[in-house]
Amino acid sequence: MKKQSVIIIDKRNGKQYEFDIKSGSSGPDVVDLTSFYSKTGMFLYDPGFSSTASCSSEITFIDGENGLLLHRGYKIEDLAEKSDYPEVCYLLLNGELPSRENKIKFINILTHHTMLHEQILRFYSGFRRDSHPMAVMVGIVGALSSFYSEKTYDFSSKEGKWVAISRLLAKLPTMAAMAYKYSLGQPFIYPKNELNYSENFLHMLFSTPGQEYIPTKASIDAMDKLLILHADHEQNASTSTVKIAGSSGANPFACVAAGVASLWGPAHGGANESVIRMLNLIEKEENIKKYILKAKDKNDPFRLMGFGHRVYKNYDPRANVLRKYCHNLLKEIDSFNIPLFRLANKLEEIALNDSYFIKKKLYPNVDFYSGIILKALGLPESMFTVIFAVARTVGWISQWKEMTESTETKINRPRQLYNGNTKKEFVEINKRKNKKEFFLSELKN
Ligand code: SDX
Repeated sequence: MKKQSVIIIDKRNGKQYEFDIKSGSSGPDVVDLTSFYSKTGMFLYDPGFSSTASCSSEITFIDGENGLLLHRGYKIEDLAEKSDYPEVCYLLLNGELPSRENKIKFINILTHHTMLHEQILRFYSGFRRDSHPMAVMVGIVGALSSFYSEKTYDFSSKEGKWVAISRLLAKLPTMAAMAYKYSLGQPFIYPKNELNYSENFLHMLFSTPGQEYIPTKASIDAMDKLLILHADHEQNASTSTVKIAGSSGANPFACVAAGVASLWGPAHGGANESVIRMLNLIEKEENIKKYILKAKDKNDPFRLMGFGHRVYKNYDPRANVLRKYCHNLLKEIDSFNIPLFRLANKLEEIALNDSYFIKKKLYPNVDFYSGIILKALGLPESMFTVIFAVARTVGWISQWKEMTESTETKINRPRQLYNGNTKKEFVEINKRKNKKEFFLSELKN
């Protein structure tokens, strides 16, 4: 077959450069520009990487135009309807759905690693009680790297990788629930081996020593689907953060802590918390139009949180599935008419018919409904991104594992377009002028 390639012509000197085109199993082709700098002496410029493929991967595929999300080839709708979170974890990590026997063994391993080393519990008391739970999670997940260190484990080996993978998947719910309990001033609740993944997580979040929390089927289903729908999403900001950290060979627990930090941002995983805060700000249906105008105003920083996506330029398929479980849960707890849910539905209806949002292809994303489900489950906004971090841990660690096994992997070290000073003569301090700097004003003379 004829070699597929592109020719780039530098019109300043007529020089031509040829680069190969690579095709994947689905989605856009890529131009292999690995040798671009060595051939042309120039860098590529793509801040935000909206036109850049950072790697090749077999784990997740998104077709943004057609609202398609596949995990190892399986549609997210099928996985959400017919599978459960541990099974999706197995699929993301191993490339295939587990047999019944393998699923039981996999779950058994996770079940027997849900406890934390007792000394880790002491880290919590170092945080202010009013800390954002994501600040606690960054610290506690990072601390795991001191309990699973290179002294004891070789994380470049198959065995070492599986220790990191199994401990992270097993312990994130325990750590997250403890961050919530710490914020309430309530005692930590230990995991119970007889409960399944989502049940155990809800138990640790809501039981107290005096009162066992028995989650309803709708709550367990809602949590399980939330975890599945947030599990992995190609090379998003937090996954790329984990992989950039991992590309230097850093401890996988420390890499996941970096992913927690990136997910926290309101433009990314922090959006579900921002959606509820936005709905509370809008407060009533008659205020929706005013806020839609603010969202469209270039001079107004207000954005419609839970809308828009870097890749989905159509409906986020996850929002579709979540909407259904949101309905089921609210119906079951007889809160179907909670003003927040009604307001969210009305906002979605108005935004989807607004020419600006249609033109910009801004549809509800996964975060639009996840916040309402989490609120219906009884969690405060500050815990929403923590639940997202629990779910996304399998995506982070699956993509980390794939990266460590790839022959293409090198330390990630982007270059830049430099616009700074070129040549300055050194000036002795007694010849330098005073400049008023805001950061110096706070210092008392
Ligand atoms: C997640 O990457 C992933 O896969 C992320 C995620 C995952 O699973 O990992 O899917 C999870 O992070 C979902 C996104 C959650 N974030 C939000 O809901 C925050 C609100 N959304 C925006 O911040 C924004 O839409 C982003 C960050 C999600 C995407 O931004 P892009 O692709 O960089 O697009 P952009 O900011 O350049 O916006 C394009 C245009 C702009 O107008 P112009 O400058 O072209 O005139 O659309 C406008 C923006 O002003 N726009 C919005 C908007 N989002 C984009 N206008 C109003 N409200 C919004 N929400």
